[in-house]
Amino acid sequence: MDDQQGVHVTTHNTTEPVTMEDTVENTPGRQLIELMAGFWKTQAVFMAAELGIADAIAAAGRLPVVDLALRTGTDADALGRLLLFLESLGVVEGDEKSGYALTPVGELLRVDAPDSMSDHVRIYGSHFYQAWDALSHSLRTGRSAFTHVFGSDLFSYLHQNPDVSLTYERAMVAGTPFFAEAAGAFDFSTARRIVDVAGGHGALLDEILKANPGPRAVLFDAPHVIEEAASRPIATVHADRCERIAGNFFESVPADGDVYLLSRILHCFDDEACHRILTNCHRAMAPGGRLVILERMLTKGTGSSLAQGYNMHMLVVLGGGRERDEAHYRALLEKAGFAVESLHRLPLETHLVVAAPR
Ligand SMILES: C[S@@+](CC[C@H](N)C(=O)[O-])C[C@H]1O[C@@H](n2cnc3c(N)ncnc32)[C@H](O)[C@@H]1O
Repeated sequence: MDDQQGVHVTTHNTTEPVTMEDTVENTPGRQLIELMAGFWKTQAVFMAAELGIADAIAAAGRLPVVDLALRTGTDADALGRLLLFLESLGVVEGDEKSGYALTPVGELLRVDAPDSMSDHVRIYGSHFYQAWDALSHSLRTGRSAFTHVFGSDLFSYLHQNPDVSLTYERAMVAGTPFFAEAAGAFDFSTARRIVDVAGGHGALLDEILKANPGPRAVLFDAPHVIEEAASRPIATVHADRCERIAGNFFESVPADGDVYLLSRILHCFDDEACHRILTNCHRAMAPGGRLVILERMLTKGTGSSLAQGYNMHMLVVLGGGRERDEAHYRALLEKAGFAVESLHRLPLETHLVVAAPR
């Protein structure tokens, strides 16, 4: 039978239990419900990480809801509903009686999983979630909603809140399962001194130095991050081949490198700020040097696009930050005295761009 919106509705045989197949349809109304309630999913996976639910399940392998509620200090009925929802999202599998286990997606929520995304999920479910709640501020002013909500810009806030800073840096590393691939996309073997400009804790450098025994490296970042990378390191960069230097890339970057890395830096800033960073790299670079940029790129076309989402995220979190398309990056580089030599595709819509001084 057809309802008044012209949607075909099947009649259910009342002797059989209702299944998902009976209830899932693909109407515009349903699609809009999925879109408007996207925050349900954000908060569900956030809680699975934040309340240690994924860790408790992983420790036991499979846990009945009542035991899991005891271990996580949650209400058994509420937790049972969360698990049913997480099961529908593909994060756990099982049922109330036999207990729940983690799926491969759920495994990534564990703190100690090899490619853990636990901190990534935590910062998106908390600080970034609150910033997005003030999206109207960004839309009205073109400025950062994060700054509006938290009273200081993201990088100053991280400086003032060391625990959040560590979560942020871990989240950064979790967002780049392709660093090893990046290390193979450019020939670093003949480099003498690689400078990672705002390299965080050095996860990318670590991959590059592991794959290339020759080069020495400089990990450059803001003073509190360099200090944090020494005292509470996330990445274990070869200490004998890597020097740590603190500073501000708007003033200068360490000199005499023959490769300068800019991984996910330019998308944090507006064109004018990018120009300052790029010209500082140009000025500092040894003759014959190369700039290697890692950024997600906007492309034409429809369908799911991480880059379009991150383009909004950069506005909300950093105000002037934005994702750019290839032409925009070429123009920025040209203005700062560089010419693009090659582009390499990496996972998650990221590109590695190699540029040389003109
Ligand atoms: C988006 S993270 C990228 C980190 C790393 N390159 C990566 O791809 O994982 C931005 C980095 O820029 C650093 N940063 C921000 N402002 C800076 C400044 N003025 N001078 C030096 N580093 C800065 C932050 O501390 C942070 O580590």
